[in-house]
Amino acid sequence: MHAVRLSANLAEPREPANPKRARIMSTGRREIDLDRLLSQRRAYRSLLPRPVPPELLEQLVAAAERAPIASNVPYRHVLIIDDGATIRAIKHIHAALLSHPPALLIIAVDTRLALDRVGQVGLLSSAIDSGAAGENVWLAATALGLGTQFTMISAMAGIRAILGLPDRFRVDLVMPVGFPDPAARRRMIRRAATPVHRNRYVAEAAG
Ligand SMILES: Cc1cc2nc3c(=O)[nH]c(=O)nc-3n(C[C@H](O)[C@H](O)[C@H](O)COP(=O)(O)O)c2cc1C
Repeated sequence: MHAVRLSANLAEPREPANPKRARIMSTGRREIDLDRLLSQRRAYRSLLPRPVPPELLEQLVAAAERAPIASNVPYRHVLIIDDGATIRAIKHIHAALLSHPPALLIIAVDTRLALDRVGQVGLLSSAIDSGAAGENVWLAATALGLGTQFTMISAMAGIRAILGLPDRFRVDLVMPVGFPDPAARRRMIRRAATPVHRNRYVAEAAG
């Protein structure tokens, strides 16, 4: 891959998790190597309970807002959860939240708006849009020295009740956000290979 350099306006985190990152995080504006960022993005399942500065959470929200959205209909919502009691309540109904994250970033969709403005395909496009926003958040978090991951919740009625979301909302992603626990053993799971096809599908390529 050619080295693509992105210029990002990133605030200095108060407590960089990784001392090696402190140097590159010490200036407000810096360049990030896209290839390095993509390879550093990993699912972090062990996060420290240490609070995440609000300005970093805001940068994650800004990253989500810059993701594409079908027909430019504003059906995607982002919820920042930094209240301990609310996080504990969500953790109670959501086994995929493994550690005690100090914050959650939740991406939800107003399905009625998606259906009204985009039609039936809006139910699918909105899920794709949530993934696009989530990936933006994940990359921004990686650049900021934060850990996160995707989790999908099945207890939809429960999380709607906790968050005060009307029934028409679908919660697509619950992303724990925090500083990675340096003591946690990283499970370096090898990424699944993506079958790639050129011009048309070839069955052997899918093996
Ligand atoms: C839609 C989606 C849902 C996921 N849900 C979970 C989850 O509930 N728990 C979890 O530990 N990881 C979850 N993951 C993370 C994947 O397991 C992880 O991305 C994959 O193993 C590749 O590892 P990497 O992200 O470190 O490259 C999810 C990923 C995606 C795309």
